[in-house]
Amino acid sequence: MCGIVGYVGEKEAQKVLIDCLSKLEYRGYDSAGVALFEKDGIEVIKATGRLQVLADEIAKRTDLTATCGIGHTRWATHGAPSDVNSHPHSSERITLVHNGIIENYLKLKALLTEAGYSFQSETDTEVLVKLLDYNYDGDPLCTILKTLSQVRGSYGLAIMFQDYPDRIYSVRKESPLIVGYGEGENFLASDIPALLKYTRDYSILEEGEIAEITKEKIQFYNEFGNPIKKERLVADWDVEAAEKCGYAHFMLKEIHEQPKAMLQTISSRIEDGLPKLRLESMTTDYLRSLRRIHIVACGTAMHAGMVGKTAIEKLCRVPVEVDIASEFRYRDPIIEKDELVIIISQSGETLDTLAALKLAKEKGAHTLAIVNVVGSSIARAADDVIYTYAGPEIAVASTKAYSVQLAVLYVFALRLALARGTKSEEEIRADVAELLRLPDLLEKVLESSDRIKYLASLFMNCDDLFYLGRGFDYALSLEGSLKLKEISYIHSEAYAAGELKHGTISLIVDGTPVIALATQDDVFEKTISNIKEVKSRGARVILFTKEGVSVPQDVADYIVTLPKYAELFMPMLTAVPLQLFAYYMAVLRGCDVDKPRNLAKSVTVE
Ligand code: F6R
Repeated sequence: MCGIVGYVGEKEAQKVLIDCLSKLEYRGYDSAGVALFEKDGIEVIKATGRLQVLADEIAKRTDLTATCGIGHTRWATHGAPSDVNSHPHSSERITLVHNGIIENYLKLKALLTEAGYSFQSETDTEVLVKLLDYNYDGDPLCTILKTLSQVRGSYGLAIMFQDYPDRIYSVRKESPLIVGYGEGENFLASDIPALLKYTRDYSILEEGEIAEITKEKIQFYNEFGNPIKKERLVADWDVEAAEKCGYAHFMLKEIHEQPKAMLQTISSRIEDGLPKLRLESMTTDYLRSLRRIHIVACGTAMHAGMVGKTAIEKLCRVPVEVDIASEFRYRDPIIEKDELVIIISQSGETLDTLAALKLAKEKGAHTLAIVNVVGSSIARAADDVIYTYAGPEIAVASTKAYSVQLAVLYVFALRLALARGTKSEEEIRADVAELLRLPDLLEKVLESSDRIKYLASLFMNCDDLFYLGRGFDYALSLEGSLKLKEISYIHSEAYAAGELKHGTISLIVDGTPVIALATQDDVFEKTISNIKEVKSRGARVILFTKEGVSVPQDVADYIVTLPKYAELFMPMLTAVPLQLFAYYMAVLRGCDVDKPRNLAKSVTVE
């Protein structure tokens, strides 16, 4: 969480920094700030609230001349969102911005207080800058190395030393950072979209590495302070991908990008009509030898894992355990050597997910990451990676990244079924052909947006909402409910349809809104019975089902009919109207859809 940028060049630094920060606001939006090397020294300008507040403040300043500076957009951890807790934080000689958490900051604060330092903010970051000041011996590199040896925790830092007005220093542990190469200018950022307007050439800063950035050059040092060379990469995302392109919100744009994203993700893993993982270690023998699979992830990615579990178990008859990463890492999970652990993450930077991956490796598991962001920490740490080709996902609420995660899990399940012979080659070919119909069907589903918007207008004033489903539809209900909660702030719960009467049905009263999913033939009748149970207690029901099934009269108040499609793959179709429903509910209630309160896109704290 928190976004960091840095610029050294010839342009007006404050303009570049605000522009780059605007692409990182998804990482946190409690406050924003910049530090600029002005003629008289480092000037800090910061403000609570959205980046626009800071941008307006800066626009009034006609006296700024800096061509070197750093910037920050904050997701508050230590200390409430306020001007004084906003970054940058400064000592007399040093100013910095920070993404992460300094775990031993209270101890360090006590030591520094004894040494005569005083503190204005409640943040761990102010302790860090004062510790740098305490250790400062005129040599930035030595000072950084010495200071970090005293610090426990995670950090991505951009640091300015008053004595070195032509440069920025940067270092990271666990929190991501990249540097960007320009012509007579160089950049620093937490993520690629921040830099796309200026450059596509970048390098990834690895754990413990330090970058010294001037306008002519970026010099890297390893964790011992020795100069090193780094590989230069080229980002293949385009600027458009990080812009709204006429859509009201990134979330809506990303929902509409799903047919294309699915096509790219699926077609890259199909060859001659059969699934191809393109991973050397995933041989037929290895896939046959698997006795158990674990899927570990957080939030929406974990919900994708639940759909994946159902698909893998149905198709391949291999047991799959799905875990929330933050639980997995602290419950001493039982993982046998050589078991497969699949890690799912859009950002590839989620701290708990990364830690779970490391734990799985320690236990001797083979790790396969399904990741969207190329070169991210999880992608680099895993034994194998399958990239999802969704392009940058900017809206905090995940939509297209979820869908492509499902697509990869389905391709994986088909490949596993083929290897294990639980399905014949002919059957797999038929499934693959069906899978390839998906992008067109998704386009068709998107055409029904207005109907979903209309339904949202009927339900927008509700305080609670229930989602019901069985099997695949239950896994999907969890995701539909999360989407609604996080962006519309409406309380909602997802229930396995058969489980409701074991307690929760007492909450169903006259008018309670219920979204029921019934897309699976084997449990269709059972689900319809469960819907009747809530209907007879007064629920107002929207039923999502598919063409060709016969729905008894009076079972639902509204029915959304999805195109006829293989029931195995229905979750990838059904997800879309659920996303649209959450989106329109939030828009109609006047919520900030792309930046819901208290959230940030990339969760790099525990
Ligand atoms: C919700 C959402 C989150 C993420 C979760 C994991 O819409 O986006 O629940 O899915 O924070 O993030 P990644 O996938 O980046 O590891």
